[in-house]
Amino acid sequence: MCGIIGYTGRTQVLPKLFCGLKSLEYRGYDSAGIAFYDRNAGMMCLKEKGRVSEVEALADDYEKNNNTKIDAFCGIGHTRWATHGKPSDINSHPHCTMRVSIVHNGIIENYAELKDELTGHGYGFVSETDTETAAVLIDRFYCDTGDPVAAVRKASERIQGSYAFGIIFHDRPNEIYAARKDSPLIIAEGSDGNYIASDIPAVLRYTDKYYRLEEGETAVLTPGSVTVIKEDGTRFTPEYCKITWSVDAAEKEGFPHFMLKEIHEEPRAVRDTLSSVLSSDIEAFFRENDFDSINIAACGTAMHAGLICKYMTEKLARVPVNVYIASEFRYQDPILSERDLVIIISQSGETADSVAALRLAKERGARTLAVVNVVGSTAAREADHILMTLAGPEISVASTKAYASQIAVMYVLSVKLALVKGKISDEYASSLISDISDNVPSAIDGIIAQKDSIKALARNFLDCPSVFFVGRGLDCLVASEGSLKLKEITYIHSEAYAAGEMKHGTISLISEGTPVIALATEKDLLLKTLGNVKEVKSRGAYVVLVCNEDDIDSIDRSVCDSIIALPPLRSCFAPFTAIAALQLLSYYTAVLRGCDVDRPRNLAKSVTVE
Ligand code: M6R
Repeated sequence: MCGIIGYTGRTQVLPKLFCGLKSLEYRGYDSAGIAFYDRNAGMMCLKEKGRVSEVEALADDYEKNNNTKIDAFCGIGHTRWATHGKPSDINSHPHCTMRVSIVHNGIIENYAELKDELTGHGYGFVSETDTETAAVLIDRFYCDTGDPVAAVRKASERIQGSYAFGIIFHDRPNEIYAARKDSPLIIAEGSDGNYIASDIPAVLRYTDKYYRLEEGETAVLTPGSVTVIKEDGTRFTPEYCKITWSVDAAEKEGFPHFMLKEIHEEPRAVRDTLSSVLSSDIEAFFRENDFDSINIAACGTAMHAGLICKYMTEKLARVPVNVYIASEFRYQDPILSERDLVIIISQSGETADSVAALRLAKERGARTLAVVNVVGSTAAREADHILMTLAGPEISVASTKAYASQIAVMYVLSVKLALVKGKISDEYASSLISDISDNVPSAIDGIIAQKDSIKALARNFLDCPSVFFVGRGLDCLVASEGSLKLKEITYIHSEAYAAGEMKHGTISLISEGTPVIALATEKDLLLKTLGNVKEVKSRGAYVVLVCNEDDIDSIDRSVCDSIIALPPLRSCFAPFTAIAALQLLSYYTAVLRGCDVDRPRNLAKSVTVE
């Protein structure tokens, strides 16, 4: 949530700031800004409500109006997802005082108290943000100590909440100071200078060497050096890790949107994830630990992946699984001990509610397992055990290939646990594993090959106010994810229902032409689901049936208006193909409605505030 970039080095800073910010826009995009030291004009700040390109235009205008070229080698930039104060020019970052300019991710919880105190000392404020209090606080301590590191640390001691800061002290215009608590920040070393960034894509073009700043550490970057200072004052030069993502992985590569590109990457993402999880020690982990309960905490799409795990694990391993919305985990006061396993599922590994659930689980003594897509993310570092999804960078705010990879992990978990518990035979486990590995990626390709007909179908959804997704069993769980995808990127209201539940209330919303997307992929449940489909059809619904190719002949075609046929696959793996179809349907509907597919309104990719 919110993106930070900073650079100090031997080449012009503006192109690096703009390029970095554009690659971070998925983290927040309601306003943007940069602060930099111009060799002619001194410290400058350009910021505006709107996208990064609008700040780029501000810089162009400045050069034209002043008949000059900005000449700057050190600067910081920010792209914002508003929390405190509406999106506006004034509330955009950087926030600048006489002595400092800062960019901030996170939330300063005690900002009101700090603001009162600082106002009492004669300081003034111009914005509605929590961040400005941090700028003023750091300014005040810098005034007192004349020492930037001491100023940052003293301010950090007073701040409650979460932060990743990038700071320039105006009398040290070639240096960047960085600090973090509960909000990610990386340092990266390039051949021509050093960087800070909230996420790897911002620096991918320039370097493959990064260091993840630890909680409570402060860093000082100059063009030729990086020094990290631990909380106890020890100083060290970071040892860098290698970024394994390629630049291409974070580019659109000819696709009009990241979302479409990422759907096309699902077969590869599932294949890679399966081979990594299958070669992990997960079976040994289950053999060594006999858990009384399995609990999953996650948000949004990741939580929907958790529901698939519950379904499969309870079916195959006969072990009860609780799935929690991570933001509700603490209120449900979960009963946990060292005999319980808590699984956190998170693409980013930084989602604040999921990380908070992980910490609570640890506090209560439970064993923790994180299923994450980002190496070195907070959840990955704090959990006892990790399983990586190998989806590669997911840039579009709507999660697609991450979900496919997460459910791949969930299937393997359920099979391995069932095997260890002696609930399924070696042969059955092997047949499930070879089926998922050999057949799922190509079946997803089969759906992608139908994208033109799915695009044509999307025209029917253009102007509808509301869409219903229904299904039974696994289909009901996929319906929830399909519905989330549609509302997230098309802004069409949608709801997911257990097919049998509609007639207990919601069917009153069905009238002539109301779209209902009915998933009926499980052979055993087909007739029952079709019965429910008839109920809505006879009330005027426009029905799209998502079912297996080989079931089509046995279906009375009058129950539906259109069909999406899924390539043959073992029934329990249909979520992979069904969701790919629903993702494409949402994608094309959003495109036809002229929505900003990759950056839907009000959202951000990584939700690092609770
Ligand atoms: O990074 P995470 O997987 O923890 O993110 C969780 C949710 O914020 C995320 O899945 C969200 O629901 C997606 N944008 C939905 O497409």
